[in-house]
Amino acid sequence: TTEETLVLVKPDGVARGLTGAILARIEAKGYALVDIKLVEPDREVLEQHYAEHAGKPFYEPLVEFMLSGPSVAIRLAGNRVIEGFRSLAGTTDPTTAAPGTIRGDLGRDWGLKVQQNLVHGSDSPESAARELAIWF
Ligand code: CMP
Repeated sequence: TTEETLVLVKPDGVARGLTGAILARIEAKGYALVDIKLVEPDREVLEQHYAEHAGKPFYEPLVEFMLSGPSVAIRLAGNRVIEGFRSLAGTTDPTTAAPGTIRGDLGRDWGLKVQQNLVHGSDSPESAARELAIWF
């Protein structure tokens, strides 16, 4: 069944000029861009988006990182796109993410307190609905 997910090209992806390369992979996979925008989220948006991580050691560095520059927010559609984009993105840690994935091919560990891992993708239909309402 067709579903939608929220994808973010995070500030590291935008700053490194990888937005086009990331979009090319998403489009080549065959998913549909329904909406896309450059955003500079405020702290309140990020606190909502990352509510489940509040209190974790990487939470404050994560919010600071996400405030460090613009992100690209994408409403992406397709059959099983939530699962499919996460597969395309690779696992959270870019050092060990599989080659062939966005994080595995384009990401690395920069020795910081937060994993700068280029992209975000919603992890479930419930998260997708919640996150799309925050960003769009
Ligand atoms: P994301 O999928 O956007 O959701 C939470 C983010 O927190 C994650 O990507 C990483 O950027 C970061 N993150 C998750 N786990 C860790 C960790 N153990 N150490 C540092 N950063 C993390």
